[in-house]
Amino acid sequence: MKASALFGAGWEDDSHLDLATVIKVSEAVSGEIVLEKLIDALMRAAIEHAGAERGLLILPRGDDYRIEAEATTSGDTVNVVLRQAGITDADLPSTVFQQVLRTKESVLLHDASGQNPFAADEYVRGHHAQSVLCLPLLKQIRIVGVLYLENSLTPHVFTPARMAILRLLASQAATSLENTRLYGDLQEREARVRRLVDSNIVGVLIWDLDGRILEANDAFLDMLQYRREDLVSGGVRWTDLTPAESRERDERATADLKSTGTVRPYEKEFLRKDGSRVPVLIGAALCDARGNESVAFALDLSQQKHADAEVRALKDRLYRENLALRDEVKECFTFEEIVGSSPTLKTACSRIRRVAPTDSTVFISGETGTGKELIARAVHTRSQRAGRAFVSVNCAALAPTLISSELFGHERGAFTGATQRRLGRFELADGGTIFLDEVGELLPETQVALLRVLQEREFERVGGAQTIRVDVRVITATNRDLGAAAANGSFRQDLFYRLNVFPIEVPPLRERQEDILLLVEYYVHRYATRMGKSIRSIDKKTLNLLQAYAWPGNIRELQNVIERSVILSSGEVFAIDESWLPKQSVRLRPPVAALTPAQGTPRSERETIEAMLAECRGRVGGSSGAASKLGVPPSTLDHRIKALNISKAQFKFR
Ligand SMILES: Nc1ncnc2c1ncn2[C@@H]1O[C@H](COP(=O)(O)OP(=O)(O)OP(=O)(O)O)[C@@H](O)[C@H]1O
Ligand SMILES: [Mg+2]
Repeated sequence: MKASALFGAGWEDDSHLDLATVIKVSEAVSGEIVLEKLIDALMRAAIEHAGAERGLLILPRGDDYRIEAEATTSGDTVNVVLRQAGITDADLPSTVFQQVLRTKESVLLHDASGQNPFAADEYVRGHHAQSVLCLPLLKQIRIVGVLYLENSLTPHVFTPARMAILRLLASQAATSLENTRLYGDLQEREARVRRLVDSNIVGVLIWDLDGRILEANDAFLDMLQYRREDLVSGGVRWTDLTPAESRERDERATADLKSTGTVRPYEKEFLRKDGSRVPVLIGAALCDARGNESVAFALDLSQQKHADAEVRALKDRLYRENLALRDEVKECFTFEEIVGSSPTLKTACSRIRRVAPTDSTVFISGETGTGKELIARAVHTRSQRAGRAFVSVNCAALAPTLISSELFGHERGAFTGATQRRLGRFELADGGTIFLDEVGELLPETQVALLRVLQEREFERVGGAQTIRVDVRVITATNRDLGAAAANGSFRQDLFYRLNVFPIEVPPLRERQEDILLLVEYYVHRYATRMGKSIRSIDKKTLNLLQAYAWPGNIRELQNVIERSVILSSGEVFAIDESWLPKQSVRLRPPVAALTPAQGTPRSERETIEAMLAECRGRVGGSSGAASKLGVPPSTLDHRIKALNISKAQFKFR
């Protein structure tokens, strides 16, 4: 302390310094960095060595000052209390204190009650203070505290020797107070960081550039499933936690750390103790002066990655579903005439799409009128053979004696009436597709020939010796349970297996009710356009009727009903007559069984057909036609009529 203001007169100069005291005072305050202990030591030393009776330590707090501690004496004992209170006029002469703050110099009053600039101070007057000393504790030019000492009994207690000690004490205390403050700040900062580390929100670890792990918090240990001892013992090194492919990235990070002191966060993976991986976001900073130790944080990204992956999978799935949906929509509506959106029909459509481009033999089964031929055509249209012939043969409609010649052709003179060579359907279909409808009706010898074509792709014309090779795709259809027929021996098993390579089952209409409305709209529009009518809506009752009906004749029957209704309709509303739909919709009998009685001869088949034609006045199609009454497709009946050479016309006007 260089300057001090001295007020009052005549003090004794006993200013020789006692070395032991100096050391004691110095030691008392210099080693303390805990504020409370420092304050206690400081106040005691001040009182003991200054001859003061009461003392205050005032410390800055924000922009203000407050009394941190008060020391009082009683006999030989010194009591130090931490007051931590604001300063009032009752605590000290405020004019003295203000001057110290202003001038940063100490104020010493040897006899405060005597003549001096502070004599008028309320405190001085009220407390009759005798010796007063107010000493700033300065660190450079900054006031880090103020020590106030007084003795209200004796004037001149602060002798030069005591002052010398007090100055020493003040300077020592200023340094210690500053250190304490710095230490306090440091502790607070450290506590803040500690709170973050201990909160275990992120993994924190301290490591050195040689690869050792010096410290890790619980979050980091949990993340990697290691025990603290595993890591900090040096047994597991920092680099051991990193999969080989991430090492290069880590090396770049270490280079950054060396050159800039920090590593910006980046994503990597750590290896857990069990070898599994955990994705993390990691960042680091050098944390020692030598630039060898670093503190890093690691944020577990597993959940986020998992969520990301789920979102991605969901997107993929949606995308795939969209594609599938688009495919299905395309399938059901780009197969031109295949109308419907029911799941069962969609399944059939997707099977068509799959098998079409291959050359596989396709076996279509389903009740009459369900669209088997439509599907066979779709398979052809969708195949590479689309540009070539699609030859359809209704096996049930061919006379058994003619069927071989129909399928394989004949040479001139092969049989009576074979006046010239004729190519069979297989030859016509060369390069394309042959569709054998009602394949279950083939006679045994034709079954053998067909088997050979399927196996060897070759045959001879009837009456010919030359082997003919063809490249034909075979599609067959039946409305019979051919599997059962093969099992009970009424159909060749080996042929059945040759045909049943890729089965497509066409569901009956009653099992795909959701298609009814679509089909109704489709056919109403089609027939109305054809007949130049405008039908805009469907009668609700009609729709209910159509949906409730079992449709034994399936789509063909629906088509007929709609056609009839459109013919009869005069307004814009589509409606049907309930009587058009038979009350009891019995399932249809297999077509040929209907035409051919058990001990069937062509004659009795002819009789059956003729009788029915007579009943229906020669009409084959439609719900009042012979086909519907016999429970067979009109095409089949037509073929049989032609094969048996029956004239429909003769029944027309009977
Ligand atoms: N999904 C559909 N969409 C539109 N029309 C269809 C559909 N299915 C069938 N049809 C139509 O129904 C009628 C009967 O179809 P198809 O001749 O293909 O049936 P089938 O199963 O071969 O019958 P059968 O066993 O009696 O020969 C055809 O006019 C066909 O166009
Ligand atoms: Mg058919």
